[in-house]
Amino acid sequence: MDFDHNEEVHRQIQGEEDISYVIPVAGKLNAGLERQRLNMQDLFLTPRFDHLPSQFVPRLKSAKEDPQVVLDIACGTGGYILALAKEFQKDYSHIQLKGYDINREAIAYCQELARNYNNVEFAEMNIIERLPDQSMRVTLDIDDNSADYMFIRLIFAAMPKSCWPSLLQECYRILKPGGVLRIIEQATMLYEHCPVAHELSEIQHKALWLAGRTFSEYETALVPALFRFFRESPFTLVEQKAKFIDFSSGVEPEHSTVIQNLQLLIRTLRPLTLAYHVTTAEYYDTRAEQMIKAFEEKDFSGAWGLNEFIALALK
Ligand SMILES: C[S@@+](CC[C@H](N)C(=O)[O-])C[C@H]1O[C@@H](n2cnc3c(N)ncnc32)[C@H](O)[C@@H]1O
Repeated sequence: MDFDHNEEVHRQIQGEEDISYVIPVAGKLNAGLERQRLNMQDLFLTPRFDHLPSQFVPRLKSAKEDPQVVLDIACGTGGYILALAKEFQKDYSHIQLKGYDINREAIAYCQELARNYNNVEFAEMNIIERLPDQSMRVTLDIDDNSADYMFIRLIFAAMPKSCWPSLLQECYRILKPGGVLRIIEQATMLYEHCPVAHELSEIQHKALWLAGRTFSEYETALVPALFRFFRESPFTLVEQKAKFIDFSSGVEPEHSTVIQNLQLLIRTLRPLTLAYHVTTAEYYDTRAEQMIKAFEEKDFSGAWGLNEFIALALK
């Protein structure tokens, strides 16, 4: 059965706009709520990872005359590109930094911040193309062999699962020979004995599974799937590493930031869960409230696991 899209559900979530994202962005209120979540996630995650993969650094040093291009696909509120802009300002202000996203509000926000730099650009782009037979694929309106480094972080909710191979094909096409692709994705959320968190997570994962965004009904299972997609792609996967972020009670600002982010995520995933009739609104809301209370207990411990993939386009 093809779970990749369900037009009726998308219309319920996004209104009339033909957007495959499972989080509502159509309409000012939804877009604003999502922008707030993206911004928080962005400010939190960007400083917790290396700014640049070591494989890209030698290219950066050797190419001052030939301006290099760095792209962030589905960049949200642009924090990564803007962090690079700040870092490059002194010695590498010739490097072109570009971010793309479907969320109009987020892009307008990025463009406002980009006014401080002359080498940063943000543009609206829908990376998912619906073909005449209704199947979907990733199509990026970017030239062949035009980028040196592509960065993609946490886009699984945006990606019908059949689209991953076309995302890798598109990145390979766009990267110059030897260019670097870096993908950081959700691996897992672990809680020390917190039954209500598991219950809510099961509900959300069931909805994401029905929406065709995950590779298992119980968790995203995107990490093993990505290993396979890389094996089947022309890329050479040169590095992969897991990172766990401790957000237990008492670990600040991780604890309060992840809780605030989860609160927003609970709201933004609610329409999807209800549209697929995975649970009732009352059950969802009660569990969500109980989960937040459990997270606020003094002895709560949780860890958020992400995995980073670094691959080279050896052409
Ligand atoms: C979880 S957010 C991650 C944002 C950013 N990469 C980060 O890590 O902070 C997923 C992003 O995918 C974007 N998105 C969803 N569907 C999209 C589409 N069809 N085309 C482009 N961007 C899309 C959303 O607007 C959102 O900014």
